[in-house]
Amino acid sequence: VRALVTGASRGLGLALCEALAARGDEVVAVCRRPSFDLDALGVEIAAGIDVGTDDAIEQLRALADHPLDLVIANAGVNETYAAAIGDLEPATVAKEFEVNALGAVRTVQGLLPALAPGSKIVLITGGGRASVWKAPNLGNYGYRMSKAALNVFGVLLAEELRPLEIPLLVLSPGAMDTDMHRAVLAIGRGNPDPGVSGREAARDVVARIDELDMGGTGELLHRSGRAA
Ligand SMILES: NC(=O)c1ccc[n+]([C@@H]2O[C@H](COP(=O)([O-])OP(=O)(O)OC[C@H]3O[C@@H](n4cnc5c(N)ncnc54)[C@H](OP(=O)(O)O)[C@@H]3O)[C@@H](O)[C@H]2O)c1
Repeated sequence: VRALVTGASRGLGLALCEALAARGDEVVAVCRRPSFDLDALGVEIAAGIDVGTDDAIEQLRALADHPLDLVIANAGVNETYAAAIGDLEPATVAKEFEVNALGAVRTVQGLLPALAPGSKIVLITGGGRASVWKAPNLGNYGYRMSKAALNVFGVLLAEELRPLEIPLLVLSPGAMDTDMHRAVLAIGRGNPDPGVSGREAARDVVARIDELDMGGTGELLHRSGRAA
């Protein structure tokens, strides 16, 4: 299996690279800058790719010469902790859309030539329907708005790719003890659940990927496998 992961420098992306490499997959780790921990994995690293910019499309296209069995669009940011509309900065929300929603669009646009029937796409979201509509801790507008846009992208793309037999899963990893979650907890916003380690989450994510076939394409799942 040849698998590509974005946001591979740390957190869930790093843990996914580690888990996939450990079982013998050939991993292409996409990042802006490699971290010490990513370097230490010894996987192929494609650095200097910012999925928040259109340059990423051509940069990823250059990696699409060799077929890919799996693409995981994992890179994400969470910077709008604002609880009230008056505190919300549109420019920050726009950045979240650029990375969280359009970053996944660019990732797929760049890599589509490397995908064939049976290749899988996974979009890492920040909660499915339930957490967007019913979460007790409101606020965090831009992050949630951008992830809702990502979810819709996933459902539309899954239908477009159905005739090509490329299954797509929108996967919510739930709370994880990563830099992103720690930053939100530190200011008392967001999900108070301390979460599991990136490694624990990655194990479940890999299990969901292994189960994925055309029967499950377009679904929004929590990493446990329940509907998100
Ligand atoms: N942690 C949670 O509780 C939680 C819950 C639900 C969903 N998620 C989702 O899980 C995914 C991974 O999050 P995490 O918790 O592992 O967060 P993290 O530790 O903050 O890692 C985020 C990763 O995304 C990369 N990234 C950010 N902006 C980028 C850009 N413009 N271009 C390329 N890469 C970029 C970062 O790279 P740099 O090192 O270059 O910044 C880093 O590798 C995200 O999509 C997040 O929304 C997380």
